[in-house]
Amino acid sequence: MDRIRIRGGHRLNGEIHISGAKNAALPLMIASLLTDDTLTLRNVPRLADVALLMRILGNHGVDISVDGKRAGMNGIQGDTMHLTARTIVDTTAPYEMVSRMRASFWVLGPLLARCGQARVSLPGGCAIGTRPVDMHLQAFEALGAKVDIEAGYVLASAPGGLKGARISFPKVSVGATHAALMTAVLARGESVIENAAREPEITDVAHCLAAMGAQIEGIGTSTLHIQGVERLHSATHEVLPDRIETGTYAMAVAMTGGDVQLIGARQDLFDSVVDVLGQAGVAVQETNRGVRIHRNGTGLQPVTVTTAPYPGFPTDMQAQLMALMTRSEGVSTITETIFENRFMHVQELARLGADISLDGDCASVRGVERLRGAEVMATDLRASVSLVIAGLAAEGETTVHRVYHLDRGFERLEKKLVACGAEIERLAS
Ligand code: EPZ
Repeated sequence: MDRIRIRGGHRLNGEIHISGAKNAALPLMIASLLTDDTLTLRNVPRLADVALLMRILGNHGVDISVDGKRAGMNGIQGDTMHLTARTIVDTTAPYEMVSRMRASFWVLGPLLARCGQARVSLPGGCAIGTRPVDMHLQAFEALGAKVDIEAGYVLASAPGGLKGARISFPKVSVGATHAALMTAVLARGESVIENAAREPEITDVAHCLAAMGAQIEGIGTSTLHIQGVERLHSATHEVLPDRIETGTYAMAVAMTGGDVQLIGARQDLFDSVVDVLGQAGVAVQETNRGVRIHRNGTGLQPVTVTTAPYPGFPTDMQAQLMALMTRSEGVSTITETIFENRFMHVQELARLGADISLDGDCASVRGVERLRGAEVMATDLRASVSLVIAGLAAEGETTVHRVYHLDRGFERLEKKLVACGAEIERLAS
């Protein structure tokens, strides 16, 4: 298994190009199941999760091609992917695949809407919490599907077709909103999704579905009105920039000090993170090429932050913020409200010298004068990048093990950081 070795203590200066958002690219690729025409996606990031989803969709019968480089391309644009689900040959998504990536469970809705049935393995728990799918099933049932669970699989069928319905979620869920939306677009009549998640990635998918012929009102709000249509058609859509990757590099620059332009980033997508960085004493400035982050000399101020659904502070930035606050001049309080077990990085940060105490869903982070390099273990995607951020500021050498977690969600991480002056390398095993 590959490792990442970091020699801390270098300021970051220069430019980092922000990739397309993983959490938009995955559901966008899945949306291709809804039409027998070709869906073309631009700016698709090159990530392990994207590669895995290509295999899963291929198993259902989706033909996928990725354009090679074109003259004039500068190597920083994401891939252009063409997905054509002319014939769905298999409506089963097996355990071996769904267990490797939770978002692959999201194929259920489109398969059900297009083929009238689907059989998809339950995703199971994962490192960050139990993560049930009850609200996904609630949405399918509301839309008229019969849903059973047998031997670890969800079997959903709607032989008479799906019918529009009012779906009111008891809790905000990104995945359940994707599922309800992607299913309702092909159901007969009108659907209303209440308490929908408003994450920018959902808005991006909704815009793509609209370009494919779906009729959706209220995009970007917590109430979506959908008028079902008989079929969707081809479209071309560009994946929006990754706000979590943006926020992560912003935290890295805040940690080391320096001055970096995040090219292609959109400040409006991560306002809550910008607010917190401002409180910590980090300058964030929108430019005509993206977002500039700089911190020179001044110490980091502690912050009090609670994770919340968008537009609140993202749970996907909690670990990175915690890494940053290990070096603040005071005590920060970070409360995690989305996932019950998303503090796996705490013990690893402690190995680097961080002073963090946990009380239920609340972490108190007392800033320390220095972190010292050590061997640490990545436990999930965002936890692993928090260790990289800490390693960039730690004295001496830090080795992060199990970096396959990083490859799921960060494109060319070491290369992007090296270009800004970090001393970081991948060691193949
Ligand atoms: C999405 O996961 C993201 N994944 C996660 O990003 C992100 O952390 C999460 O949303 C929250 O923002 C993708 O977009 C691929 P949820 P998802 O349904 O959809 C509970 C990353 O690092 N819940 O919004 O699975 C659930 O347990 C990843 O990129 C139910 O109770 O998250 C959680 O407490 C990790 N019943 C809360 O809702 C359900 O049926 C929010 O989860 C569904 C969810």
